[in-house]
Amino acid sequence: MLCLPVVQGQSLNEAISECPGTITGSTNPTQIHLQTADEPTAMTVMWATEQRGDAFVEWSHSGGEQSTQGNSYCYEHDMAFHMAQMTNLPLGEEITYKVGDGNTWSNEIKFSTINPASDHFEWISIADHGLSSEGQDVSEEIIADTSAQMVTISGDISYSDGNQNVWDEWFDIQTPSMMKIPWMTAAGNHENEPITGFTGYEHRFDMDNTAESEGFYYTRQVPGALLVFMSTEHPFTTGSSQFTWLKNVLETANTPESREASPFVIVYGHKPMYSSNSYHGSEVELRNALEQLYVEQGVDLVIAGHDHFYERTWPVVAEKPLSEGLDLAVIPSGIAPIHLVIGVGGRAAYEDLDEPQPSWSAYRENSTYGWTRLVYDDTSRSLSLTHHRTDGTIGDSFTIVYGMVLESDEGGGFLGLPGFNSLSTISALIGVALGRGRFISGRFDDESCSVE
Ligand SMILES: [Fe+2]
Ligand SMILES: [Fe+2]
Repeated sequence: MLCLPVVQGQSLNEAISECPGTITGSTNPTQIHLQTADEPTAMTVMWATEQRGDAFVEWSHSGGEQSTQGNSYCYEHDMAFHMAQMTNLPLGEEITYKVGDGNTWSNEIKFSTINPASDHFEWISIADHGLSSEGQDVSEEIIADTSAQMVTISGDISYSDGNQNVWDEWFDIQTPSMMKIPWMTAAGNHENEPITGFTGYEHRFDMDNTAESEGFYYTRQVPGALLVFMSTEHPFTTGSSQFTWLKNVLETANTPESREASPFVIVYGHKPMYSSNSYHGSEVELRNALEQLYVEQGVDLVIAGHDHFYERTWPVVAEKPLSEGLDLAVIPSGIAPIHLVIGVGGRAAYEDLDEPQPSWSAYRENSTYGWTRLVYDDTSRSLSLTHHRTDGTIGDSFTIVYGMVLESDEGGGFLGLPGFNSLSTISALIGVALGRGRFISGRFDDESCSVE
């Protein structure tokens, strides 16, 4: 995520003055990791070396071979960093690539491009990771996985906290996965390091391959879902550039045409607007600023971390669970956002929970570690999420179905439109869901659907 003007095209003199530790040392590429680009036909690769040098990537696929030169840069640390972008990639195909300075190269590495039109897509989401033994258990499980095509992290990534060597170690551990599938991130409070702020994070992740970036928020289209990465660590209230961006992104994703092409909208950010953990709890300022927008634009899932436990809410608006008639396992889309806290990636568990369990909290556990697997299936137009514990058991599992509708007991009207756009609609949904709703399985049908 290169936002600072110094990082690209640094002159050698600048580099020497800023990063004298990179004048000598190994030119062997390490910390190799992929980052998705705005276009699915492109993939950015980043890596680190001890000695600063040129950056090249060579790649091949069914259409032939290509290479390009990227950028090398550094910051206040004794490692040099490199970034280059593979372009014009065929969708859904295996790509072979290697990176290096023209003399010293990595081994050849294979990855597959993501085809947004694919009818099946799996990915893994984690948060609050770090280098603990529990965190490394999670890393090992992800590295061993052969189904996921992406990993997301909802912030608090390495817990470097001012020690840049921790970032190096964290990348070294994840590289066997990160060089094969992209890991995409939202910034947490621990990315905002003492003295250096977000500098380490900005230099080690990328979302747009340019120095003039959108900052800390961006989107990625994957099969069936728009992934919206926002920052709870930067201004988000009405009038802020992030709010304006978020509103535009969510409105565009919530048109009938957009929903039909891609049914689900998932927001990734670090701090949760709903959490019944006693350590941090719900971020009320965040909720006051953004919940209405998320409800109006039919956000399906909000996946956060920060509190080191696992929790899933019911579809909820203003602390009111819209759970009447629902069961835990299968939920129609379009009722209201479901909020998840998945801060179980490895940091010490926060054991104390608010009691009694709030009515909006559908499921929670406070002493386990693990990760979540998300699966989009186009045939059933469903999104399934499973919380895997590192002991091999499953802690939570549910499926959101696009087009499944709530049936009102009064007049046969149908509820549960995929995306809804007014507060009166939200109020009606609250009333119906709390009072008399039940859901049936069925396809969304414009002719038969009405909203009370
Ligand atoms: Fe954390
Ligand atoms: Fe945090």
